[in-house]
Amino acid sequence: MSQRSCLSVILAAGEGTRMKSALPKVLHQIAGLPMVAHVVKAAEGAGASALALVIGHGAEDMRKAAAKFAPKADMFVQEQRLGTAHAVLAARQAISKGYDDILVMFGDTPLIDAEALAAARGRLAEGAAVVVIGFRTANPAGYGRLIEKDGGLIAIREEKDCSEEEKKIGFCNAGMMAVAGKHALKLLDAVGNKNAKGEYYLTDIVEIAGAQGLDVVATEASFENALGINNRAELAQAEGIWQTRRRREAMLAGVTLIAPETVYFSHDTEIGADTIVEPNVWFGPGVTVAQGAKIHAFSHIEGATIASNCDVGPFARLRPGADLRTKAKVGNFCEVKQAIVEEGAKVNHLTYIGDARVGAGANIGAGTITCNYDGYSKFFTDIGEGAFIGSNSSLVAPVTIGKGGYIASGSVITENVPEDALAFGRARQKTIPGKGKELRERFASAAAAKKKAGSDH
Ligand code: UD1
Ligand code: MG
Repeated sequence: MSQRSCLSVILAAGEGTRMKSALPKVLHQIAGLPMVAHVVKAAEGAGASALALVIGHGAEDMRKAAAKFAPKADMFVQEQRLGTAHAVLAARQAISKGYDDILVMFGDTPLIDAEALAAARGRLAEGAAVVVIGFRTANPAGYGRLIEKDGGLIAIREEKDCSEEEKKIGFCNAGMMAVAGKHALKLLDAVGNKNAKGEYYLTDIVEIAGAQGLDVVATEASFENALGINNRAELAQAEGIWQTRRRREAMLAGVTLIAPETVYFSHDTEIGADTIVEPNVWFGPGVTVAQGAKIHAFSHIEGATIASNCDVGPFARLRPGADLRTKAKVGNFCEVKQAIVEEGAKVNHLTYIGDARVGAGANIGAGTITCNYDGYSKFFTDIGEGAFIGSNSSLVAPVTIGKGGYIASGSVITENVPEDALAFGRARQKTIPGKGKELRERFASAAAAKKKAGSDH
């Protein structure tokens, strides 16, 4: 990566009224991460060492969110929304610190990739003063058109200011630009607002730089890089593109996805080679899967760690804090929360394990429930190595089942069970020979008597 210093100015002061939301537009999520955080990631991926976020609408929400995804960013409030050049100038103080490269990015254009930005920076390094990231489309309506001459870019014309001829140009402005730091403020300060919208257009710096004899060029990126989000339909479109990219990346890294279009990843999902993911699986945030695991169909997984060769699902729900160690099994209709399932342990059917440890090799019978909550507090269940919990048992926490402990089916266990002990926590069965037949005869004659009484009336 180049040694040149780089500041990324991210514009996010727009109101986003078309989202019809109480949440600022750029905080709506793609793959579980605010869209503006995707933009920050791309900037960092392209080598930006400093970040300036220009905010307006929902400033408080933005500050709170940015503390998580961009803790080092400087925040600037654009009080009045007077156009993209005006917005960049809100970050004047950051720009004037003096950087080699300034990357101007939009907070609502989340699929911009680091390569496109790095390529633009590369052109600055070669001597250009302004590099505009462009894309080609058959439907250019609404975008600024890139007007080129002799390999250089001479102007960007906004749709509303275009002539009929210019409207036919299919090479468009993605919005993002790389500007040489030493020229940035001088160019931005020269922008006026004499145009159809009466706004200070960032795009005007192209002509201004040209008039000063500076080198201005356009680079070309894919359409996705330019996809701006204005409503929830576009949000879903961006999510779809993001998921498609991520699925392909996972497959090329050695993960089998049987029906890739039905598997959903989060921005931070980590998944090892030779893992097989069956159809309809959801990975929420914070999931790590090691190598060689099997994730069966219809599993919902978030905040969980799955070690190598584990077997999960079908229809498993792993919630935050689920920690499955090597070769553990969590089967159908089981929920695991804040619990370690140690090596080779099996939780196979219709079970809830919460706030617990299941020791290595333990076997949890169908329908077992850890009763971890009394309506006020959570309590821990510790199940020792090699323990056997009979089906339909309730383990009332806090409770400890010792190593090798054996719990009879249908037990309600309220007291600790020592190592290798057998515990029953249920009524004993009573069997009375012949009593079943006697009962049946009694009931039959009672029913017959009732019927006869009815027909006599
Ligand atoms: C802009 C470009 C256009 C390009 C298109 C790509 C300009 C003048 N036009 O148009 O050439 O084809 O993007 O999508 O740059 N913002 C602020 N404060 C403002 C104005 C805008 O923060 O005062 C932010 C918005 O929140 C948004 C971004 O800047 O994130 C772009 O603004 P927007 O109004 O969407 O510009 P477009 O009309 O789409
Ligand atoms: Mg826009």
